[in-house]
Amino acid sequence: MSDYQATGENRTIFQRKNKAISLALKIAVLVILTLVSLTVYKLGFDSENEVICTECDSYGALEPAFTSSLDKILYNREYKQSIIDKLAGAIQIPTEIFDDSPEPSPDVQLWQNFQKLHDYLEQQFPELYAEVDVEKVGGYGLLYTWKGLNSTLKPLVLMAHQDVVPVEPSTVDLWTHPPFSGFYNETEDLIYGRGACDTKPLVISHLEAVELLIKDGFKPQRTVLISLGCDEEAAGACAAKLAEHIEKKYGRDSVYAILDEGGGVLEENGSYFALPMTAEKGYLDAEITLFTPGGHSSVPPDHTSIGILSEFMVDLEKDIYETHVGEHNPALDMLKCLTKFGAIKNKDLERHLLNSASKKKLAEALDAEPVYKYLFKTSQALDIISGGIKANALPESVSVLLNNRIDIQSSVNETAERILGHIRATADKFDLGIEIMIGRDAKEGEVQVIKPTTPNGHFIFKLMDPLEPAPVSPTLGSEIWKILAGTTVSTYKTKAFGGKHSDVYLTPGMGGGNTDTKSYWNLTKNIYRYGGALALPGSNEHTVDEKNSGASLVSGVAFMYQFIPNVDIYSTEA
Ligand SMILES: *[C@@H]1O[C@H](CO)[C@@H](O)[C@H](O)[C@H]1NC(C)=O
Ligand SMILES: *[C@@H]1O[C@H](CO)[C@@H](O)[C@H](O)[C@H]1NC(C)=O
Ligand SMILES: *[C@@H]1O[C@H](CO)[C@@H](O)[C@H](O)[C@H]1NC(C)=O
Ligand SMILES: *[C@@H]1O[C@H](CO)[C@@H](O)[C@H](O)[C@H]1NC(C)=O
Ligand SMILES: *[C@@H]1O[C@H](CO)[C@@H](O)[C@H](O)[C@H]1NC(C)=O
Ligand SMILES: [Zn+2]
Repeated sequence: MSDYQATGENRTIFQRKNKAISLALKIAVLVILTLVSLTVYKLGFDSENEVICTECDSYGALEPAFTSSLDKILYNREYKQSIIDKLAGAIQIPTEIFDDSPEPSPDVQLWQNFQKLHDYLEQQFPELYAEVDVEKVGGYGLLYTWKGLNSTLKPLVLMAHQDVVPVEPSTVDLWTHPPFSGFYNETEDLIYGRGACDTKPLVISHLEAVELLIKDGFKPQRTVLISLGCDEEAAGACAAKLAEHIEKKYGRDSVYAILDEGGGVLEENGSYFALPMTAEKGYLDAEITLFTPGGHSSVPPDHTSIGILSEFMVDLEKDIYETHVGEHNPALDMLKCLTKFGAIKNKDLERHLLNSASKKKLAEALDAEPVYKYLFKTSQALDIISGGIKANALPESVSVLLNNRIDIQSSVNETAERILGHIRATADKFDLGIEIMIGRDAKEGEVQVIKPTTPNGHFIFKLMDPLEPAPVSPTLGSEIWKILAGTTVSTYKTKAFGGKHSDVYLTPGMGGGNTDTKSYWNLTKNIYRYGGALALPGSNEHTVDEKNSGASLVSGVAFMYQFIPNVDIYSTEA
């Protein structure tokens, strides 16, 4: 079933309506039994392990619906240099964003850089700016509306962010090429600079694809929106305003699908593994402050606020979250897929992922690998502590900040309750009160008293920036998943990449962080954090020598150039 093509005989399968994911998964197990054994036979793997790998699949190519400039994108060297130049120019404008950046304003230098980027984009994409409606939203957010011919169809939304994480001034000299040079070394095929990976290539590939499609005379039936946030690396307030704006204009559940930054395509020995991210963990910063009476430190109580809070912290850290392997966690399919085809080499993990039916054994194997285990559990980290000001004065308050990334099967409430349980235990032991505050700047009236304060003092438990885990996006059985897959395969089976005999696999993935899509859940369930571009291992996002390859940029533009018309032609859902 997954080995589909847009030919007559397979159209019926392709046009099947999307069913609930659990059902789709069950069906998929049956279907893949036959399909994957074929794939695996080809690769020379033992076919006994097939059944387990429900979501690692080699798909047929989707014949691109529109191809005018495709060969130019893939094979023309001058053209490649021209898009590298476009990206380099965007990197040269330092759209750095800080956690404490001022509100968007034309009087602030930092935001003037965003205006410069806007002017630059307008100059680089003249066809697009002539044809497409461009709005500034939420300060320096950009919303491009390429109006479709059929307004009853839900729009397609392509996201990215314009901002970049700051370059730490003390590290500037460590860069091989200056961080805002956008230097391209042709021998290495690498473009250097902050934003070279995260996410200026995505900005360029969205805009470039539309620019070319307009030039080539393509007219979409379905409206295409390009929505570019301006502070993803900080609060993501810009994206929230963009999403709100889109919801106001089109309504709830009004979008066909959303693509944003996230997973890419890994190459391993001539095989390609595409990882659209279909889920995101939740988030909670918990600040716990303990207030106790002050006094002279020559007559202290047995336990000062520092000692009591320390006891709470030790208690909390002893209570480690359990790794539990949920069937619907896309990370499970991702690990199975990458392990099975050798992209992850870890014998112990391999044995338990592919050969053992024991969830417990698998959880133990995952626990040995910090990068994997946190895909299956909530993480907690005590990150900031402060308290006490003087050697001869008892500390009147001490506070600690606990950062949590919430398991996709858990919730903000469950996480908060667990922390509260430990606060309660400490409060009971030392006879202290407890109050809860929601939000960073909660006011007096918004405090919830759990236990009244006592002469010994009280805790304040502050819940900041709570974010529920994202809904898991549909995969097998879903129309958009097939279009993503088919477009990926046709891109990587070209001679520019693996050629027609290469194997291209698609599996859902998950990362630990969050993207701007966290503000877009009301618009559609079809959210894929994926740009179709080749991933560069060691691209050094967020650190010294961030870089990306020219090949990656080419693959991203080629993917988007096919994806937009493919959605237009091959989608059957309104
Ligand atoms: C480009 O990369 C090659 C290979 O790493 C290196 O030898 C050369 O010095 C680089 N060129 C520049 C201008 O940095
Ligand atoms: C890739 O090829 C190399 C060299 O032939 C081999 O050592 C390695 O095991 C291969 N990796 C995979 C995943 O097949
Ligand atoms: C969790 O949810 C329950 C039920 O809605 C509620 O009573 C409780 O206050 C919540 N806990 C926290 C810490 O918000
Ligand atoms: C989605 O809609 C609900 C109900 O209208 C609203 O409370 C919530 O804030 C919205 N979520 C986002 C991320 O905008
Ligand atoms: C627009 O799309 C809807 C939904 O697919 C379809 O029913 C309608 O015929 C289309 N209208 C035109 C003018 O193509
Ligand atoms: Zn990013």
